[in-house]
This record gives sequence, structure tokens and C-alpha cells, in this order.
Amino acid sequence: MNIDKNAKPFLKWAGGKTQLLNNIEMALPKDILKGKFTYIEPFVGSGAVLFWMLNNFPNMDKAIVNDVNEDLINTYKTIAEKPKELISILQILQNEFHGLEGQDDAKKEYYYSKRELYNKRNKEQSVQAALFIFLNRTCFNGLYRVNRKNEFNVPMGSYKRPTICDKENILAVSQALQNVAILCGDYEETLSYADNNTLFYFDPPYKPLSETSSFNSYAKDEFNDEEQIRLRDFCYKLDTLGHSWILSNSDVKGKNENDNFFDDLYADFNIQRINARRNINANPEKRGVLKELLITNHVSSQEYVRAI
Ligand SMILES: C[S@@+](CC[C@H](N)C(=O)[O-])C[C@H]1O[C@@H](n2cnc3c(N)ncnc32)[C@H](O)[C@@H]1O
Repeated sequence: MNIDKNAKPFLKWAGGKTQLLNNIEMALPKDILKGKFTYIEPFVGSGAVLFWMLNNFPNMDKAIVNDVNEDLINTYKTIAEKPKELISILQILQNEFHGLEGQDDAKKEYYYSKRELYNKRNKEQSVQAALFIFLNRTCFNGLYRVNRKNEFNVPMGSYKRPTICDKENILAVSQALQNVAILCGDYEETLSYADNNTLFYFDPPYKPLSETSSFNSYAKDEFNDEEQIRLRDFCYKLDTLGHSWILSNSDVKGKNENDNFFDDLYADFNIQRINARRNINANPEKRGVLKELLITNHVSSQEYVRAI
């Protein structure tokens, strides 16, 4: 797959993986990436790992991405299919929003009217996608949170002149997505796309470190402990079928040393603890260094990784 090297995530997203790319690189399986291979990312979010993989492995044969968030996947599809239409709508939104600089009440009114419009979900695909990007760029901390009725309910952020229309990147992403299958559904449905040389990267909603730190409501359904166990079962299944996978999650043991939730679930696999910075935290003082887990079912590309 031949793509523009500059494609990068077009969204801010909780759990974005840009800062962990070095660790993920070291955890890649040795053999699979040598020849043609299939890459599957079942919880794609903002796609930091997807774009990095596309940029760095031109020998990748096929890429498949999936997310349960329909509005997110609609945005990916719009970028892939109608980038210019999207750019022209984003340009208008950006001009209008920037034009209100210094008029706090008018800016607020504008933001909330676009949020209301988005939540009606009765506009065509490209308008919904533009509103999705607009809200992501202007809302509080780039969060995506919806209520039980799937209504986006994040308040306005305090950015002065946020970039809403990054034309160059949208074009680069559009090109990068030309050979990527974009699916919307439950992660288990991606299995049918695997072949005999496949790498899965799983970045599910993290298990919260405490009740109040819970930020895993990207979608209207919660990803609770039962869901974490269902995902472990799926990983076992993939392992039995001979597929390679890498999985990220929070390190609950860092918070409570007696909490063996993931150590027990993934006892048969390789568990690494890596340093990570969390950016999605309302309180800047809590955006410190935390540990995260990187779990694999294969030997990493660099042996020393496992000694860390
Ligand atoms: C931690 S985020 C992924 C972050 C991504 N790696 C990035 O760099 O932005 C988890 C994603 O899983 C999605 N998700 C939640 N439940 C899901 C399910 N059952 N199947 C597929 N995706 C799901 C959420 O919508 C969210 O986008």
C-alpha cells in the first residue's frame, strides 16, 4: 500500500496512542511484518496506530479498521469518499467560529447551536462529519461523551482559535484511507477479515482506575468488567487460530497493588508495564506519568522489551 507519509489523526481522542508509538513499535511481532500482512484495528478511535502503521509498513497488504461509534465511522468514510466537500464545510465553520473571537456569548451560542444540530442527526453524511470534527476541535478537552440517548453533551472548551479545518491533513488522511476497509460494529465482527498473516491491535476503552476517573463512555454502552472479560476470550480465540495481537489497557495494579485483574486475565501472555502520559483529565495536576499495559501473544521484535 503506497500512501502519503504525512497522514496523522484528524481528531483528539481519549486514549490517543501517539505517545506510545515507540513502545508499540517494540512490541510488534518479528515474523509477520516481514512479508505481506493484514492489519486489523477493531477499536480505531482517532487511529494514531493505524496512520503510523500505514506510514511505516508499505508492505502492508490490507488494513481493516472498526469502531462501534457510528458518528466516528461516518466521519472516516466521509474523509475517504468526499474530502473536498468536507473541507469546504469545515472552512465555513472555521471562518464563522474564528469570526466570533472576543465575543464570548456569541461564540457559546454558536457552539451550542452546532451541537444541537449535530444531535438531530438529520443532515447529510458530510455535514454530520463536519459537525463531528467541529465539536471535537472546540469542545472541552476534545472529549467525546454522549448520554443514554446518544446525544453529545460535552460543553464548549476554551480554545482561542482552534484549527477546525486542517485541509492538508484531511487530504493526506483521505489518500491513506483509500485501501482501508472501514467498518462499524462490535470488535468481534472483524475476525472474518483475518487471514494467515494478520496482526490485530486492540485499544479498548480502558478499565477505569477509580470510579470518578471513568472516562470510558465514548459510546452509549459501557465497557465494564464483563466486556473486558469478553475481549480476553476473543484474544484467546485469536491466539488459538494463530493470529498475532497487541492489546493496550490501564494498569490497575499501579493504583492498587493487590488488583490483579489483568494479570489474572492475561496470565498466559506477555504483559509489559510502560510509562504513559494521560492527557484527558479535567484536572491538569492529574495528567502525570502513569503505567499502562501492553500485552502480546507473540515474541516482540526486540527481545530486550520483555526485560524492561
Ligand atoms: C481507547 S479508544 C481507542 C483510542 C485509539 N487507539 C486512538 O489512538 O485514538 C476506544 C474505542 O473503542 C470504541 N468501542 C467501544 N466499545 C466497542 C466495541 N464493543 N466494539 C468496537 N469498538 C468499541 C470506542 O468508541 C472508542 O473509540
